Amino acid sequence: MNIKSITSIVHDAVRSVVGPGDNVVDATVGNGHDTLFLAGLVGPEGRVTGFDVQQAAVDSTRVRLESAGVAERVRLVRASHHELGRHCEGPLRCVMFNLGYLPGSDKSVITTPGTTIQALDQALELLGPGGLVTIVLYPGHVGGVDEARAVLDYLEGVESGYTCARYELLYRSRPAPIALFVSRVN
Ligand SMILES: C[S@@+](CC[C@H](N)C(=O)[O-])C[C@H]1O[C@@H](n2cnc3c(N)ncnc32)[C@H](O)[C@@H]1O
Repeated sequence: MNIKSITSIVHDAVRSVVGPGDNVVDATVGNGHDTLFLAGLVGPEGRVTGFDVQQAAVDSTRVRLESAGVAERVRLVRASHHELGRHCEGPLRCVMFNLGYLPGSDKSVITTPGTTIQALDQALELLGPGGLVTIVLYPGHVGGVDEARAVLDYLEGVESGYTCARYELLYRSRPAPIALFVSRVN
């Protein structure tokens, strides 16, 4: 049996809904791996908007996108994702959230429940029919359990018209990351 990593499961799901010309968001740019992945899927006619509160994340992502020759289809915004509704127009085909802290950087800069829930709310509001929001939660770091609980509580209250699925690898030694997939049905 081939058990896939959280990242490859999330990328498979995103690949199944996003295509050329789509309008998508990376809500947590970080080192830009997901931003680059989205830029490849939407092609030259598509649009990616990426958010991060850290200038270092925005700068390193810009370099990554320029090296790959896809920078012109991506708008990087140094702002919190709870400003998504101010910067993006719908319908969005996909919004990716990879929560927590930037690997290899200041672990005190983490996503927090208050702004994460606001951003999720705006993402669902702007999602088009058939669109997908992906969320990766990391309950293993300080604050991660509270954030995971807040996101799961929030999703329990989401109205009909959306379906939500969960994928989780079970670790023995520490809390495992959790991937959530929210699809807009109609
Ligand atoms: C786990 S990393 C993202 C990894 C990224 N998706 C990648 O492919 O490299 C989480 C990122 O969220 C950012 N972040 C923290 N609070 C944020 C907020 N309110 N709005 C947007 N980004 C935030 C952090 O600065 C960090 O870069």
